[in-house]
Amino acid sequence: MNAVVILALFSVLAAAQATSDPDECDTIRVESWSYKYAEKVVQDASYVLNMTVVDRQSAADCTLGESFGYQKATLWVDHGCRADFKVCYLPVRRTECQVLRVESWNYKYAEKTVTGAALFINMTVEDRQSAASCDLDKSFGFYNQNSTVWVDHGCRADFNICYVQGATSTTTVNVSSWNYKYATKILPSASCIYSMRVANQQSAAPCTLGTTYGFVANTMWVSDGCRADFSVSYYSVY
Ligand SMILES: *[C@@H]1O[C@H](CO)[C@@H](O)[C@H](O)[C@H]1NC(C)=O
Ligand SMILES: *[C@@H]1O[C@H](CO)[C@@H](O)[C@H](O)[C@H]1NC(C)=O
Ligand SMILES: *[C@@H]1O[C@H](CO)[C@@H](O)[C@H](O)[C@H]1NC(C)=O
Ligand SMILES: *[C@@H]1O[C@H](CO)[C@@H](O)[C@H](O)[C@H]1NC(C)=O
Repeated sequence: MNAVVILALFSVLAAAQATSDPDECDTIRVESWSYKYAEKVVQDASYVLNMTVVDRQSAADCTLGESFGYQKATLWVDHGCRADFKVCYLPVRRTECQVLRVESWNYKYAEKTVTGAALFINMTVEDRQSAASCDLDKSFGFYNQNSTVWVDHGCRADFNICYVQGATSTTTVNVSSWNYKYATKILPSASCIYSMRVANQQSAAPCTLGTTYGFVANTMWVSDGCRADFSVSYYSVY
């Protein structure tokens, strides 16, 4: 192999790496008219990672967690916020699906680990074998924190399970809003935080998810005097 071929090979590899970047971004307009709550689903997204204002059209403010935000693949606005947002998300094509049999015998709880599942997108009944019914969150469901799916109350079925591949972890971090000021802290090891709850509150001021604390992509925020150790779960995409 001569140097030119090797160079060409390297640039092909570099290009392949660039296109295997897990995330995609789009500019999307979402509008709260007459100060009403409104939603928009991001096409081809399985999970929104972050959302930032690029061009605000309204006189009303657009504040994350207060007048705009996101949940799974859905964006929302409220209180008159109208803007173009830059939205980064995990595309559906990054999602894996598999059919897995999970069975609750003798009406007992049972679980199964789905290796490599970082974030479950959905779980649906493909073929039920039991007389007992299978209802999401009642007799079957999943835990993102440990890549586990579960069944209970006699539900036995083949489930179609869709998820984003990667690894999940949980850690404890303290984030503090001193003097009632807005503050942020980055969790550098995380591609994306998916849950954050209060483990040990230090402030007298309340810590309320979405109001005085929250997260965007790999960044946690607090405001209005909330100070606490938070239990933060996140995933890193392979
Ligand atoms: C589950 O998620 C996958 C990937 O996002 C999607 O293609 C499929 O339609 C979803 N199924 C249901 C029942 O929502
Ligand atoms: C949004 O998420 C993408 C993908 O993870 C990342 O590259 C980008 O830096 C994030 N932007 C902000 C403002 O956090
Ligand atoms: C997974 O997490 C759930 C909820 O915390 C727990 O009940 C279950 O026992 C865990 N399973 C495994 C295999 O770690
Ligand atoms: C918060 O974390 C910092 C270092 O990250 C530590 O020095 C401090 O003692 C912690 N505070 C509390 C109240 O746990």
